[in-house]
Amino acid sequence: MSGKVGFVETPLPIAELMVSLIEAPKDVRVLDSGCGRGVFIEALLKAGFKNVRGIEIDPQLYAECSGKYGDRAEILKGDFLKHRDTYDVIIGNPPYVHFNSLPPHLSEEVSRIIRSREGDIYYAFILKALELLREGGQLVYIVPYHFFYNTYARVVREALLRKGSLEVVIDLDEVRIFSKSPETVIFRFVKGRKGERMKILRIKDRKATPEEIRDLALDALKNGRSNRLFHYSEAPQFRTAGPWSSFVAGIPEFEGIPLKKLAKVGVGLVSGFDEAFRVSQEELTTFSDEERKLVKRFVKARNCDRFVVRGHALYIVMDEHIRDEGHLRERYPNIYARLLPYRERMTKRYLPAGKRWFHYQALRNYTFLLSHISEPKIYVPTLDRRPYNRFSLSYGPDLPSGDVLFIYPYRREDLLFLLGYLNTRFFREYYLGRGGRRGGRVSFTQRLLEGAEVPAFSEEVKERIAALSGEIVSRRMEGEDTTALEEEIERTVREAIEGGRRTVSLF
Ligand SMILES: C[S@@+](CC[C@H](N)C(=O)[O-])C[C@H]1O[C@@H](n2cnc3c(N)ncnc32)[C@H](O)[C@@H]1O
Repeated sequence: MSGKVGFVETPLPIAELMVSLIEAPKDVRVLDSGCGRGVFIEALLKAGFKNVRGIEIDPQLYAECSGKYGDRAEILKGDFLKHRDTYDVIIGNPPYVHFNSLPPHLSEEVSRIIRSREGDIYYAFILKALELLREGGQLVYIVPYHFFYNTYARVVREALLRKGSLEVVIDLDEVRIFSKSPETVIFRFVKGRKGERMKILRIKDRKATPEEIRDLALDALKNGRSNRLFHYSEAPQFRTAGPWSSFVAGIPEFEGIPLKKLAKVGVGLVSGFDEAFRVSQEELTTFSDEERKLVKRFVKARNCDRFVVRGHALYIVMDEHIRDEGHLRERYPNIYARLLPYRERMTKRYLPAGKRWFHYQALRNYTFLLSHISEPKIYVPTLDRRPYNRFSLSYGPDLPSGDVLFIYPYRREDLLFLLGYLNTRFFREYYLGRGGRRGGRVSFTQRLLEGAEVPAFSEEVKERIAALSGEIVSRRMEGEDTTALEEEIERTVREAIEGGRRTVSLF
């Protein structure tokens, strides 16, 4: 087995793009921290940099790289995390390896630098680079986007905030740049300089080639505007070390009220073993009346079709009132027979204390949901890869499955208004700007949704949105196109907020 630590080669065009981000004379001292086979060294030399160094810990890669560049660059063999020289520019693609998978000789240094045993070696690379940069020096790295929002990467975000400014952020989402690609981000940071605005690029097409990424990212930055591959925006520096997002720009500040004041937001019911609890319509006919009472309609993520719920699945819900296995066997024989073949596997699932093998793993909000089962609710998938929001209305009777969240407005008149507003791009960008993105997907969590501010629109605007939203629901039920109506909601929302003609909240 090779002992290589996080070796993944960067495509040359990506290294070239990153080298182009350097704003410095060609004779400054530049270091590639972890130079591998030397892709960045090649790009730096090609761009005319004269004072280029690389450091590499792996003997084989070191030999390969130093053999290739001879006296045109200085290749050092060693550990960057223990390096002491200072630089005007540090550039590269640091290794990404979680602390738990690091060899002992590196994990010790990493935990010293990041002051924890949770996190990744690239956190330590960023912190070390900040230390080795001279005042005014630049750091240009490509790293997982994960550090923008991961709790354990707070130490990294704090250091970046404290020590200078992020000037360029290129969010490459999940474009496959490396053989196994996480969502990646390229950034340029300047040490000691404060207050500059960030230029933010967000990629639009995950299938872009490295050449297209290089050419079109440079084009967008040079012209200060979006093009077919990148969305361009500018934003002030991040103010806090809370989750960061490449969606910070574009949403104006507005006065709002947290969604939790308008609606109950909650997670769905988690069986922990769907295969056993799901029943077909056919099977249902073999159940007794008593047994059928335990079968409920569930709305799953795949039933959420934006604005409307289509279809449902049938699930046996085994609540905690059925405590005794003997009782289950006698009173619900068909259900018992249905679950029995799974018994061994169901016993092995994680179950909170006091639960039996035939119970659901988590039945949060169950009493509430049962008492509102026939009232309309909005459902949304908890994790969604689609490029638009799928808040979907159901008039019931149904319950949310574990892969959706439910939103139950306290006032019936807010139902269609909220449905329309939550499905706007405006809300989507606002939500993503608050850290709702996970691995190229949007993650709707109870906490983030509850805290999401709903603009304090006038009653008139709310009614307008509600009317449009109602129209969309009926038309979508008929399978008609509703793009124009959706755009109308979008415009109404933006005009109400940007026009500054809002009246005080009437919520
Ligand atoms: C993601 S690879 C990038 C390689 C090369 N720069 C490229 O972009 O193709 C990270 C490199 O860092 C090296 N590396 C890992 N830990 C290191 C350390 N502590 N000091 C120096 N190099 C290290 C790895 O051997 C690997 O070559």
